[in-house]
Amino acid sequence: MSIIDLTQINLKELPSPKGHLILGHYPQFKSSAKHLFLEQSVKECGELYSVNLFGKKFIVSAIHELNNQILKLRPEKFKRLPKIDSVLQEIGIFGVFNAEGEDWKRHRKLTTESLSLKKVKQYYKTVLKKSEKLLDKLDAYAIQGTTIDIQKEFMLFTVDVTTAIAFGYETNTIEGHNAIFQEHLEQIFIMLNKRNVSPIPLWKWYKSKKDKQLDESLKSIEHIIYDFINHTKKTLKNNFQKQKQPSNFLEALLIENSEGEFNDKEVYGNIFTMLMAGEDSTSSSLAWIIYYLCQHPSVVTKIRNEAYQVYKNYSCPNTFKEYQNLTYTNAVIQETLRLHPTTTQQIVESNEDCTVNGLTIAKGTCFILLNRYAQREEKYFSEASKFIPERWLNTKCPIHKVHSPQVVKAFGGGSRLCPGKNLAISEMVTIISILCKHYNFLLETPVNKIHEKHAFIVYPENLYIKLEKVTP
Ligand code: HEM
Repeated sequence: MSIIDLTQINLKELPSPKGHLILGHYPQFKSSAKHLFLEQSVKECGELYSVNLFGKKFIVSAIHELNNQILKLRPEKFKRLPKIDSVLQEIGIFGVFNAEGEDWKRHRKLTTESLSLKKVKQYYKTVLKKSEKLLDKLDAYAIQGTTIDIQKEFMLFTVDVTTAIAFGYETNTIEGHNAIFQEHLEQIFIMLNKRNVSPIPLWKWYKSKKDKQLDESLKSIEHIIYDFINHTKKTLKNNFQKQKQPSNFLEALLIENSEGEFNDKEVYGNIFTMLMAGEDSTSSSLAWIIYYLCQHPSVVTKIRNEAYQVYKNYSCPNTFKEYQNLTYTNAVIQETLRLHPTTTQQIVESNEDCTVNGLTIAKGTCFILLNRYAQREEKYFSEASKFIPERWLNTKCPIHKVHSPQVVKAFGGGSRLCPGKNLAISEMVTIISILCKHYNFLLETPVNKIHEKHAFIVYPENLYIKLEKVTP
């Protein structure tokens, strides 16, 4: 347990960092480094403090045991911040991410089944196909000595994987096709993020040029997804082979939904949710992995040796089993997610008066859970600030005395844990293993010029690299 005795805490009397008289801490919170402001304030105010955003109070907690318990108490005692639901509903999204209570249980069951490990195995050939495409493209860059915006390339990769796996749409943005689809999605994500942090919903009264563009982008994406829903319904009819072995999330979802429990609007909402939840988070995590690999060439060599051991002279793994044998690469991914999770904090609100780990909480209290804070603490991981993938190879951890995997909340926690975790890890392990087998990574930006940028998720801004092809 934390050394703070939570039974003695009155949430109305918490310390607070210095803020503006009227706006409170909104100026710091509006910035793209809000997560750093919140983490740094722990030093000034302790592991439990409050901030004020335009008059609304938020309790900030860096106490792992408390945060863990709050995440576990969803959906009954806590929910996501209602603002997220209202912003998503406004644009017609009714899916698992913004559903709550009993409604969420319904959505969650279907989503979890459609993204189960068994289904991820079936989807794996799509991951391989897209990985080969990215490899071809990067090969040309390596030969030409091109400086690469690697985050952007990973974004195209995850768009292609996610659209193919979510609803069978072969966008092929890696090779420059359907770029408009990606542009629409990007536009939507930027605007959703903007609306989520905006204290006043101005767009309800006045639509700016960007708001109108958002409507256009939504219309285009909606049109494509609905076409696929109708087409897939037809193809599934009487196709018993497909009904047994769905090749994408939409097929799996429609098969699971044979009783018609979900209407088309909800099916659309969940497909959109996959796109929203699966792309940025995976591509930004991949970018963080490259950030570390550029600075640790010996780790690249170890990943390369493992690739040679597992899939020998092939350029990519051949089977899901081979992917599962890439244990060192997996450790590199775990270590990056510990140090640089793309979700550094989660915001929740209490549904009722309750007591959690002795702390008395009134209905409607908002919490910002600083999950990353504990992941970098010495009391949970030996040499916590260092990038040491080996710590994940053996849970008994002979080298490092302290090792607490349960503290890592990169994929969230409790019953709302990310259902795309298996898929995301299979994508990341596969593409990182393949890239390390073929290239060394050279940073084109000085490390001190690469910054963490918070835009709903946290990604490395200014990460430019060159690839140096290695001969076997
Ligand atoms: C490295 C990649 C990813 C990371 C770091 C990540 C992280 C997260 C986090 C932190 C949450 C919130 C969990 C919570 O509330 O406790 C979440 C939720 C979710 N993620 Fe992921 N995610 C990733 C990839 C994916 C992928 C590939 C998909 C699917 C294609 C996906 C689908 C979802 C969905 C549907 C939810 C909402 C679950 C719910 O509310 O019940 N994610 N993810």
